[in-house]
Amino acid sequence: MACTVLGMPLVVFRSGEDVGALVDRCPHRNVPLSEGSVVDNDLQCPYHGWRFDRTGTCTRVPGFCGSPEHRGRKATSWGCTEKDGLVWVYAKDVIPDDDPGPPDIPGVGRDGYTVVRAELDFPGTLHATLENALDVPHTAFLHGGLFRSEASSNRIECRVVRDHYGVECEYIGEPAPTGLIGRILAPGGGVTTHYDRFLLPSTAQVEYRLGERSHLIATNILTPITDFLTRMYAVVAVKLPVPGALVRPVIEPVIRKILRQDAEMLAKQTDNIQRFGGERYTSTEVDVLGPHIWHLLKMAERGELEQVERSYRTIFMET
Ligand code: FES
Ligand SMILES: [Fe+2]
Repeated sequence: MACTVLGMPLVVFRSGEDVGALVDRCPHRNVPLSEGSVVDNDLQCPYHGWRFDRTGTCTRVPGFCGSPEHRGRKATSWGCTEKDGLVWVYAKDVIPDDDPGPPDIPGVGRDGYTVVRAELDFPGTLHATLENALDVPHTAFLHGGLFRSEASSNRIECRVVRDHYGVECEYIGEPAPTGLIGRILAPGGGVTTHYDRFLLPSTAQVEYRLGERSHLIATNILTPITDFLTRMYAVVAVKLPVPGALVRPVIEPVIRKILRQDAEMLAKQTDNIQRFGGERYTSTEVDVLGPHIWHLLKMAERGELEQVERSYRTIFMET
């Protein structure tokens, strides 16, 4: 399967129990390897039939009597692994020994949870897409009636904790969301527990809990395809007081509608950033996570994450 990560065309393929990711260009004559097929666990180029294993080593050159393996015939490989139905590609050739592996996705495989998966391209930068997924103030406007509404205003406390793994905001004293999702998640209303998290390098996670019975946790894993195009793999796990089979047809279209509204707004944002030749932001305290995400991404780019000290901050906002 062909995909693009950080502007690099890749081909991802199954090799027995494993997965492999190679740069999508045959080292022989530049043909896309993604046009080929998997034969005996190796990827076979469609032009002259050279084959490559998951490390990119050439394993067969049809008609050639010598050994196919040669440094100059190696396809470029990227580290690659699979977990919870997602394939993770590393922007380096091998996965480091001390790498902790992909994170667990909460709710997947747990009794009582309905899991909805969605895959959606957002025409925005990684930062803009991450912020959008974790941005509370826009929900009353852009998704008015589906999630929160401007009419019901509540003063809540937000506790922000940041360290070199990411940043989390806990919203304290928030009533159950109004609108359709609120009515499904919390039919009796009441106070909800709500966390928004940015987890490096590129996950936006939103968690709602109402007592022991209702729990929604959306783990949105983002892949920067190019500078202005970001793919979201959303895994939404919900546990509700009613059976999952009844909930899914109701909740799934709502989530898809919310995601579509966000994609349309990010397209407008991106067009305007490009029209003006760059980004320029001003924020208030209620833009709780966006500035932290920006800062942490910049620190990560510069390899300075270890310098990020654990910090705590409390602010108040109206939702
Ligand atoms: S171009 Fe791939 S085998 Fe020749
Ligand atoms: Fe949104």
